[in-house]
Amino acid sequence: MIKTIEWTNEGVSMLDQRLLPTEEKYLTLRSYEEVADAIKKMVVRGAPAIGVSAAMGLALGASQSVGTSVADLEYDFDFMCKVMEATRPTAVNLFWAVERMRRALAKAKAETSDVEEVKQRLVNEALAIFQEDIDSNRALGRFGADLIPDGATVLTHCNAGALATAGDYGTALGVIRGAIDAGKRVAVIADETRPFLQGSRLTAWELSKDKIPVTIITDNMAGHVMKQGKVDCVIVGADRIAANGDTANKIGTYMVAVLANQHQIPFYVAAPISTIDLAIDSGEEIPIEERDSKEVTHVRDHQLAPEGVDVHNFAFDITPNELIAAIITDRGVARSPYTESLAGLVTTRESTVAAG
Ligand code: MRU
Repeated sequence: MIKTIEWTNEGVSMLDQRLLPTEEKYLTLRSYEEVADAIKKMVVRGAPAIGVSAAMGLALGASQSVGTSVADLEYDFDFMCKVMEATRPTAVNLFWAVERMRRALAKAKAETSDVEEVKQRLVNEALAIFQEDIDSNRALGRFGADLIPDGATVLTHCNAGALATAGDYGTALGVIRGAIDAGKRVAVIADETRPFLQGSRLTAWELSKDKIPVTIITDNMAGHVMKQGKVDCVIVGADRIAANGDTANKIGTYMVAVLANQHQIPFYVAAPISTIDLAIDSGEEIPIEERDSKEVTHVRDHQLAPEGVDVHNFAFDITPNELIAAIITDRGVARSPYTESLAGLVTTRESTVAAG
């Protein structure tokens, strides 16, 4: 199993994804500031992995707080949450995980005045978020497996695998792993995913490690391979899904969805419930991160473009819901109209929890 993030006695351990595929190096992050910096610099990336990392970073920060009362801890914790929330704007899993940690603190505070007990509960909450992520990806992998025909070639964009989650299965790649575990033969075409190359560096790395057949294409080959009949379906992950199903994912996803629709190829999104943001109605409201132009003009330190040239570096785009054949979640598969199907999936569990 690929270990993306791990809670250890020394701090939060993370596989440095900037160095893959040529170097497999784990970093130990010893403070919440180091974890926040690692999220910002994309040592760890992928919506669920960002959420899990933020939760662990907050648990680490809380456990190092020198406050002697729960009120002191709460004061420190609030500041840490703001630092964490300022790391990356698009993946809603970050805000979801921070909110869960805030709620865990509030609940603990209502039940005990022992500050050490509250700190321990925050660590437990972060560990629960970690484990739930692994479990939910296994569940969505099982739901999604039914949509993949035996012998299929699946095109994916970016990396929505073990590396983008707490580890193990992943989301889009979780569906592929689920289909393979169900006895189907599946091959993958991975878009290289300029500019950060999550497809060629990360997806190809983790699939090769698992001996799942993978072929890399440059992003601009997607239309050609679809036209040649080489793609049976597309599966991508998501950073945030609005109430109407509009989906933010890695830049270039929208282009792939348009091409898939042009060629009547089903385009699926796979994501855990924590990626669905019912607070926003449509993709128009999803903040799109813009990153350093150097990611476009350089590959590592090698310059590819003229000095000082203007650059756009949008990290994500929005795929409108009408291009999405289904959204595969850990609670089942949602289909259009998404406003109803997604709300149904999100609230099912909440009402069960409320009732229980
Ligand atoms: O910029 P990144 O690498 O964090 O973007 C990652 C993606 O867009 C993934 O497809 C998405 O987070 C889903 S990961 C299961």
